[in-house]
Amino acid sequence: MLKQLLKRKNISQITLEADDEQHGLKRVLGPLDLVSLGIGIIIGAGIFVVTGQAAAQYAGPAISLSFVLSGFGCVFAGLCYAEMASMIPVSGSAYTYAYATLGQFIAWVIGWDLVLEYLFASSTVSVGWSGYVVSFLKDFGIFIPDIISRSPLSYDPHAGWAFTGAVINLPAILIVLAAMTLLTMGIRESAAATSLIVIIKLTVLLVFIGVGFFYINRENWQPFIPPNEGTFGHFGWSGVLRGAGVIFFAYIGFDAVSTAAQETRNPQRNVPIGILGSLVVATVLYIVVALVLTGVVKYSMLNVPDPIAVAVDFMGEKLYWLRPLIKIGAIAGLTSVIIVLLFGQTRIFYSMARDKMLPGRFAALHPVYRTPIFTTILTGVAASFFAGIFPIGILGELVSIGTLLAFVIVCVGVLALRYTDPQLPRPFKVPLFPLVPILGAGVSFLQMAALPMDTWLRLIVWMLIGFVIYFLYSRKRAVS
Ligand code: ALA
Repeated sequence: MLKQLLKRKNISQITLEADDEQHGLKRVLGPLDLVSLGIGIIIGAGIFVVTGQAAAQYAGPAISLSFVLSGFGCVFAGLCYAEMASMIPVSGSAYTYAYATLGQFIAWVIGWDLVLEYLFASSTVSVGWSGYVVSFLKDFGIFIPDIISRSPLSYDPHAGWAFTGAVINLPAILIVLAAMTLLTMGIRESAAATSLIVIIKLTVLLVFIGVGFFYINRENWQPFIPPNEGTFGHFGWSGVLRGAGVIFFAYIGFDAVSTAAQETRNPQRNVPIGILGSLVVATVLYIVVALVLTGVVKYSMLNVPDPIAVAVDFMGEKLYWLRPLIKIGAIAGLTSVIIVLLFGQTRIFYSMARDKMLPGRFAALHPVYRTPIFTTILTGVAASFFAGIFPIGILGELVSIGTLLAFVIVCVGVLALRYTDPQLPRPFKVPLFPLVPILGAGVSFLQMAALPMDTWLRLIVWMLIGFVIYFLYSRKRAVS
């Protein structure tokens, strides 16, 4: 049995299978499509919703330092993803990489863990989307009642779970189902829609920076790192660290570029460009947006669902016209994130089904659109369910811890593979080996460690469910 758990998939076999399936998924994406896909998924609820809350609760103006720290961790992990993706240029992301490097069991662990990243993240962002849409419509006198636009559940670390009085978050459900429908129609259409939205959200953030720069009040940055309040994670340096763990959510997505490898022309070259290009753009933008945000508004006032719009309010009545534009940008941005996250999830399930870790239906393609139709619908329905009932904080922290775990495994995989299979062609190699994978795993783990205990418990429960499925179903059927 141990032999099977540790069984690795041969890299040339993986690549061959991928070539065989050329008639399956079409190779249509180039480097710009991938950078756009990356930005499309990275810039979303993290910067538009979570930044303000994290500044108010954990780090103050030093949230920009949290972005620097988290960004460094992501660049290191991103380089590792790029090396893996250049070596194993097929769908499936970290799942496939783990199968080639760390064996079948860890591959399952990571595939199951990636559901937290993609499926749950699309639910998380949909809840953020719902918040912005409700607030946007309110500005125009259209009121969507709380009872159908909020989570019916809330969670407080001290008081536990409670009912909010709402029944369902209907806008969040509807946006997931709409994204699902688009995806069933095929990658090309989805990529084109994503590119347009990417331009809109980048423009909105650049305008925010350009205008906001003139309204910065340096006193708001004093003290830049507010003193710790006595418990770990509440301001001071531990607050910067917890802030990094929380806003890490904002960086999630660059790894999704690797899930599109099989639909990319010349993936050895283009996937690393897509991953690193989108990550660098996001990191620089986030740091500057965080500085402007906390410079315009005192951090303690940023614990709101729409912090960027609140900052625009602070700039005075003259700029009132900017408020709806910011919200439109946020709504458009979040929409593209939801689409690409759902896309990533369907491709991971597709790869797992191809290896018989999941039932064959998950890999079945639509006869005309050539998209994994069953998987897409199942993923969309499940994501809309979670979006409809859970609050954004619970979902977001679970997504962060799950994704950080995947990063740790990928970085360790890069390290391991350099020793076990040094001869394999690596069109892209991480620089400064072994420092980069070690730092990637280390910084990711540090951010995991800074997240609250409750989040750890949820991760453990999720993984235990995964173990049960593996031992009862997948291990028996997986390709051996
Ligand atoms: N990074 C993505 C976001 O912030 C998931 O919405």
